Amino acid sequence: MRGINLKHYICPATGCSLRTQGSYSDTDTIVSDELIGGKDKNGNPRRYPVKDGIVYFSEDVRESLSAVEQAEYDYYQTFSGDYDSYQDWLFKSFYVDEEDLRREMIDALEIDDNSLVLEIGCGTCRDSVEIARRLGPGGTLFLQDLSSEMLLVGREKISELVKDDTGPTVEFSVGNAHHLPFADNHIDAVFHFGGINLFSDVRQAIAEMARVVRPGGKVVLGDEGIAPWLRNKQYGEILINSSQHYGFEPPIAALPPTAKDVRLRWIIGNAFYLIEFTVSESEPEVDLDLPILGLRGGTHRSRYFGQLEGVTPRTKKAVIQAAINEGISVHEWLEKSLNKQLETEREDSK
Ligand SMILES: C[S@@+](CC[C@H](N)C(=O)[O-])C[C@H]1O[C@@H](n2cnc3c(N)ncnc32)[C@H](O)[C@@H]1O
Repeated sequence: MRGINLKHYICPATGCSLRTQGSYSDTDTIVSDELIGGKDKNGNPRRYPVKDGIVYFSEDVRESLSAVEQAEYDYYQTFSGDYDSYQDWLFKSFYVDEEDLRREMIDALEIDDNSLVLEIGCGTCRDSVEIARRLGPGGTLFLQDLSSEMLLVGREKISELVKDDTGPTVEFSVGNAHHLPFADNHIDAVFHFGGINLFSDVRQAIAEMARVVRPGGKVVLGDEGIAPWLRNKQYGEILINSSQHYGFEPPIAALPPTAKDVRLRWIIGNAFYLIEFTVSESEPEVDLDLPILGLRGGTHRSRYFGQLEGVTPRTKKAVIQAAINEGISVHEWLEKSLNKQLETEREDSK
């Protein structure tokens, strides 16, 4: 890793900054060292080894994983050599040009030459190569995966692109998408494709993606999931029969409240979903106190927070009629009548 990029990482467990054992200038390459982070519950500093230029944010990565993630980890650690042939077969089977498709997904990131981009679960870097092509020398691409073996295959692929000064700097780390080693609002865009269905906590993983992206930046993520209109057709049933992964649904309800301009589409034979959203500074706003027009009246706030005990249908009908007779909303009639009653009680108690 390049010395200059150390400043971008934080301790994923505590959020504090990291330091190295050795000292490095911005242009130095850190091949082998240790990043030292915040203290663990026993008061010992957390240590993240750098081996052959790759940061390991979990040294004993397998032990720190849930059972589902351990299965994922074991699978990809041994499958890395065959993964690329499997992907070639997959795109061929759907009659889709993989490069065109991956370019289209990366368009959604809306990045420029100088962007700071993070790809989670980058695997053998089939998308990363295209992301790196979009970045200039001022850009930085952080590539992250749970499996060091997948990452090593990917690094080989991408090294051609970054060997001179015309491309971005590319950094590699092994870690878990559920605890990203970046500060809030730090990254311009986050990309993930192909693994999220089997993440143990999809909501937390998406919350992490949104947390590290600056307001106005994009998150793009996708995985297998047959489009709903094909699920019960023979096409969908055949695919789900071959791989249950096609039975997943897009995790649209797991997006954070700050997601805006959300788009969901189906790609690759409508057997994969792709979700993109912009991270907004705040949750959506609505004027809770603007009077609502019509007979019922009131405001969003009074309707939600001001509910009284239920009344009988007969009383309700009588109240509506009384409001109509006075030419005011039900809300105004109730407020007026209740306040009148309360005023009388106050006078009586004096
Ligand atoms: C199907 S591959 C997709 C690889 C690549 N994105 C692509 O489109 O070809 C899924 C990848 O997600 C990684 N992965 C699985 N669980 C992960 C987690 N919790 N955190 C980070 N990466 C994870 C796997 O190691 C694997 O490389």
